[in-house]
Amino acid sequence: MSSATLASLYPQHIDTLLARSAEALQRGGFDHLLIPSGTLHYQAFDDRDYPYAVNPQFKAWLPLTRAPGSWLLISPGQRPKLLFLQPHDYWHVVPDAPSGYWVEHFDILTIRTADEALMHLPQDLASCAIVGEPHSALGDCTPNNPAAVVHYLEYHRAFKTAYEIEMMRQANRIGVRAHRAAERAFRAGASEFGIHLAYCQAAGQDANDLPYGNIVALNEHGAVLHYTDRDRVPPKPVRSFLIDAGASFGGYASDITRTYSAAEDEFAAMIRAVDAAQLELCDRVRAGTDYAHIHLQAHLLLAGVLREFGVLNVSPEDALASGVSSAFFPHGIGHGIGLQVHDVAGFAESDSGGRIAKPDGHPYLRLTRTLAPGMVVTIEPGIYFIDMLLDEVKAKGLGDAVDWSRVDAFKPFGGIRIEDDVVCTEDVPINLTREAFAA
Ligand code: GLY
Ligand code: MN
Ligand code: MN
Repeated sequence: MSSATLASLYPQHIDTLLARSAEALQRGGFDHLLIPSGTLHYQAFDDRDYPYAVNPQFKAWLPLTRAPGSWLLISPGQRPKLLFLQPHDYWHVVPDAPSGYWVEHFDILTIRTADEALMHLPQDLASCAIVGEPHSALGDCTPNNPAAVVHYLEYHRAFKTAYEIEMMRQANRIGVRAHRAAERAFRAGASEFGIHLAYCQAAGQDANDLPYGNIVALNEHGAVLHYTDRDRVPPKPVRSFLIDAGASFGGYASDITRTYSAAEDEFAAMIRAVDAAQLELCDRVRAGTDYAHIHLQAHLLLAGVLREFGVLNVSPEDALASGVSSAFFPHGIGHGIGLQVHDVAGFAESDSGGRIAKPDGHPYLRLTRTLAPGMVVTIEPGIYFIDMLLDEVKAKGLGDAVDWSRVDAFKPFGGIRIEDDVVCTEDVPINLTREAFAA
């Protein structure tokens, strides 16, 4: 993507954020919005800092993800002001002077120490909504995170601007490039650790940049939902590979999962069946659709796959009603995604608060809102063979619903998950991940 594309979309993005900020401030009764970029955090009893994570409220405005100690000052009717901390420091890399398509939209003031920001922030702090983490406090300028302001900003952040969708498109392209490299490494016999390195190399990103820790799982490890170990030696034999890994671009995330079988076997056929179900679910990302309904549909489709492969003896409807489908699909169908891989306000009932409950029996669903144009969500159905959950099925007296010999046949493969990032539009959805795989 050319930076000309981003440059052409960015003014409308800024206008949208300015309009949202003005309304949020008005609702909270404030005159200014102050947003610290955040500071470094140090390990307990140590002088080592954790990897810096920028305040999402800050990176919503500009693609600056490594500028700790900087501040944004938004005052309705004025150009936004950036206090950019560029310290005199020979120990660390000093952030480059701001450049790029976004700088002309800000009044930028370079400060040399963190405290200097105080001279340029409003004196009347009672008139300021200060949105950030407690660590960012500077003198009396302490984040107050007024609920009315935060609710409004977070609720509306679900609706991405055209600029944000381009950013996420690019995050998907990088992620897909790295997924391809990871598959090649898997086919060449690499270990989990080796595949992870191949992924990072192809993405040009490591733990400091990736939007979340890579899940790189061979064989049974695919059944550990958040498997973040990385064996240094490949198992023998290698049967299957599940990789859940994303990429970042200018502060925006992609979140992508693929599963492969080493051979053309029954597990490969089950992956294809889950892939077909996943595509059907992606197509349901339509304006006006209740996302929780897609989650329940996923249970029915996945239980249908399990029945087709002889794992379940009962109908999808019975499997959902009894809870047996949850033993094989024990997480939510997905979540909002954007500046954060699990984007905020997934349960927000309105822009002034309230919470939309999850369906009973589905505690891990992360999004219950009704879809609307501009929302970007993941669709990530999965089937896993997890001893702990299967034991619970037996303990509840539901064991007859399952053909245990079929469970034994699939258990050595771990599990399957397919995950794409999908944009809800006025019309058919845009699948950013499939678009990148097709390129
Ligand atoms: N990678 C975390 C998730 O899929 O939600
Ligand atoms: Mn996800
Ligand atoms: Mn994921």
